[in-house]
Amino acid sequence: MSVAIDPRVAAFIDSQHGLLIDGHSQPALSGAQMPVFNPATGEELTRVAAAAAADVDLAVAAARRAFCGSWAAQRPADRERLLLKLADLLEANGEHLAQLETLNNGQSIHLARALEVGAAAEFTRYMAGWATKIEGKSLDVSIAAVPGAKYRAYTVPEPVGVVGAIVPWNFPLLMAIWKIVPALACGCTVVLKPADETPLTALRLGQLCLEAGIPEGVVNVVTGTGAVAGAALAGHPGIDKVAFTGSTQIGKVIGHAAVDNMTRFSLELGGKSPVIVLDDCSPEVAAAGAAGAIFFNQGQVCTAGSRLYIQRAIFDQVLERLATIAGGLNIGPGLDEQAQINPLISAKQQKRVLGMIERGVAEGARVVCGGVAHGEQGFYVRPTVLTDVTADMQVVREEIFGPVVVATPFDSLDEVVELANDNQYGLGASIWSNDLAKVMALIPRIKAGTVWVNTHNMLDPSMPFGGYKQSGIGREMGHAAIEAYTENKSVCIAY
Ligand code: NAI
Ligand code: MG
Repeated sequence: MSVAIDPRVAAFIDSQHGLLIDGHSQPALSGAQMPVFNPATGEELTRVAAAAAADVDLAVAAARRAFCGSWAAQRPADRERLLLKLADLLEANGEHLAQLETLNNGQSIHLARALEVGAAAEFTRYMAGWATKIEGKSLDVSIAAVPGAKYRAYTVPEPVGVVGAIVPWNFPLLMAIWKIVPALACGCTVVLKPADETPLTALRLGQLCLEAGIPEGVVNVVTGTGAVAGAALAGHPGIDKVAFTGSTQIGKVIGHAAVDNMTRFSLELGGKSPVIVLDDCSPEVAAAGAAGAIFFNQGQVCTAGSRLYIQRAIFDQVLERLATIAGGLNIGPGLDEQAQINPLISAKQQKRVLGMIERGVAEGARVVCGGVAHGEQGFYVRPTVLTDVTADMQVVREEIFGPVVVATPFDSLDEVVELANDNQYGLGASIWSNDLAKVMALIPRIKAGTVWVNTHNMLDPSMPFGGYKQSGIGREMGHAAIEAYTENKSVCIAY
């Protein structure tokens, strides 16, 4: 059954999509626009304003005025109340937002409802609570410079200032919320640059922020290309912090631009996360877990379980069951409630994923299932399992960001630790076993920001999230998010 698009969603798509600057929708100064596509059909959905550096200047200036003015005037309890109101509005508009996201991103409507809306609202409430709980420390210092003088010192976490947030297309609304909400909880203001491909829910989110009563200029949204609008924002001397999620390649460009201005930055980047199955695990459980780890959102997930290591005694059984699951998944548009595999974001991404599979095969990998595109229209790739791979192959080393997993057998725990860590990335990992001693021995040896046991891709607002190695710098979520959007001031009082 295909979900019927609500007329209000259709009307929003057909409306004029300007840049949201200082609470007002305005065209780019140059008048430039860019197209937005529906990945299920490849057709143009609508057009949005394409910002250039001069537009980014206006947005940063608006965010600065709000930071020093209307937003600074709000008490922590006011910020909490406004964010709680925003969470209510996300839910009240949930079905519309989910439909909009599925049309623009291609993802399953179930996923859009549960994550882009449901998890985003929960995250917003969790972070709203922090607004009133940001604390410094009182320090008993031992300064001896002036005989007889007494001192008291304390620390004050202050909002870092104007935040430039640059987010990717894989979970457009959730990623925008992950950045905007903790920034606002801490008293910062934001200029958000959504991904080129997925600007629509970001624009709607900007409207909902205003509807919630968040003052004009606190949240600004500049749509446009990464190369122009993104680069102008990341290198802008008027921002105090850049928060980025996306590829490691662009993360490095952004880090360099930030350091030139000594702008604070946090980077949540790529991954090539291992899924480690020990031989005490039931092959059914392992295969279902491995399938979920890689095929969720078509593998367009930074923590996707894209390298599967199975202990040799159960390798063939797990692989066979995984291929059966993969081959049985229903492929179709995200609006089809029965479809389990949906289109990739773009023709470019489809081509990239298929190209990486082809190169893997040319290097000697064997296709157990999938490996090809699907259908006449839309950017589909069939769920793909590759084996007979070696550690030096591109499909094993690089992030594919598609529904493609490489499966390798291993014998000892020492061997799997080496295999799992033999990668530039270190974002996530999962271990599948009920042998507690082995699991506990593996956890500290895996170089990853998150290690799951008998589950994969599960996140919670309270769990800090981020990467080791080339997977990034800094942590989001949990209390770590507060640290990411505050600057510590030390105060020393002589008396
Ligand atoms: P990307 O890293 O180029 O795009 C992410 C964001 O950065 C978008 O908002 C984009 O507009 C912006 N951007 C691009 N160039 C920029 C620049 N020079 N300065 C400032 N901002 C810029 O990722 P892309 O090209 O969409 O995808 C390519 C690959 O990157 C994917 O196949 C995947 O492997 C990886 N990726 C990883 C993500 C993750 O969550 N770890 C998310 C998206 C992509
Ligand atoms: Mg790119």
